Amino acid sequence: MRLARRISRLGTETAFEVLARARALEAQGREIIHLEIGEPDFDTPANITAAAIEALQAGYTHYTPSAGIPELRATVAEEVSRTRKIQVGPENVVIVPGGKPIIFYTILALVEAGDEVIYPNPGFPIYESMINMIQARPVPIPLLEENDFCFDLDALKRAINKRTTLIILNSPQNPTGGVLCRKDLEEIAELAERYDCYILSDEIYSRILYEGEFFSIASLPGMKERTIILDGFSKTYAMTGWRMGYGVMPENVAAAFARLATNSVSCTAAFTQRAGLAALRDPQDEVDRMVAEFRRRRDVMVAGLNSIPGVSCRTPAGAFYAFPNVKSFGRPAKEIADYLLQEAGVAVLAGTSFGSYGEGYLRLSYANSVENIEKAIERMRQGLSRMGHD
Ligand SMILES: Cc1ncc(COP(=O)(O)O)c(C=O)c1O
Repeated sequence: MRLARRISRLGTETAFEVLARARALEAQGREIIHLEIGEPDFDTPANITAAAIEALQAGYTHYTPSAGIPELRATVAEEVSRTRKIQVGPENVVIVPGGKPIIFYTILALVEAGDEVIYPNPGFPIYESMINMIQARPVPIPLLEENDFCFDLDALKRAINKRTTLIILNSPQNPTGGVLCRKDLEEIAELAERYDCYILSDEIYSRILYEGEFFSIASLPGMKERTIILDGFSKTYAMTGWRMGYGVMPENVAAAFARLATNSVSCTAAFTQRAGLAALRDPQDEVDRMVAEFRRRRDVMVAGLNSIPGVSCRTPAGAFYAFPNVKSFGRPAKEIADYLLQEAGVAVLAGTSFGSYGEGYLRLSYANSVENIEKAIERMRQGLSRMGHD
């Protein structure tokens, strides 16, 4: 069959491709340490799974309203009002199958072909993929190591103009672990107001933060009216396979998102939504425990990477990724990532999987045991020592 041209404009997430290659090596008997995929290795907390089982037995096996069950929308609204210190209601919330549909719907609902969309580079690859798919113009803003991987505000000032419709932010960030500080967010908000553009604030890692308190651009005066917050359950509650996330937005945009849901997925699974209620309402000790464990692993990972000759790594402030600099090896990041998989049995991603400014970096997920992280560091040390660096 001949595919429509828009399909050729869709990008992908390399993590899934590297995972498939790593699995193929495992099928040949190789032992691979997986640092490529961005998902917590913990089980979903037992109270959440129990709530889903109970919901299934109680008959939550039918359609729900497209925007989500009212009780969950209200609970998300309370949670977001409390954590972002803003006032939002259930009418501002749409429940969707994962965080990703919020990216999809935002771009479909707010951006016309030919509009300009600003987004981080390196950044989550789905942003650029969707911008290209609808034939808008992608305008990447570099995140530089020397700037602690924050948005380059000078570059933003040069890039923004009256054709800019949307600015995509992600903090804590995938792949760098960088966090946008309040001062930078204030400047970004001021520019968004001046040029009358909207913000998609991808806050999927908002709870996985190691220093300070999370701050959302939507908390700044006048910004909740022009911001779509993306958050969800995948990372916070180790629920990647359940497929549930949410967006918080002005009411008319929520109505458009609900219509997009009606046209695509109808709704998020009913029993999954009931489990989401338990996740938000029950005690949060499990989340605290997981975040504390991620911090311990981060410290092992970063110290280990910095002990490898030729590698240097900043300490990420959030999410569960390390983004070490491997420029001293003088080879493309993709070549180094391929070499580490083949020769050292460690699956990592090239920084370029997240855009051209990722060249010279690797992304390693530390959502893995300390034992495996230590083993991976030793394998990398040996593998990279054979490569030669400056
Ligand atoms: C920055 C970012 N946004 C959104 C998502 C999508 O999350 P979900 O699995 O809930 O669709 C991810 C997942 O890796 C992510 O890293």
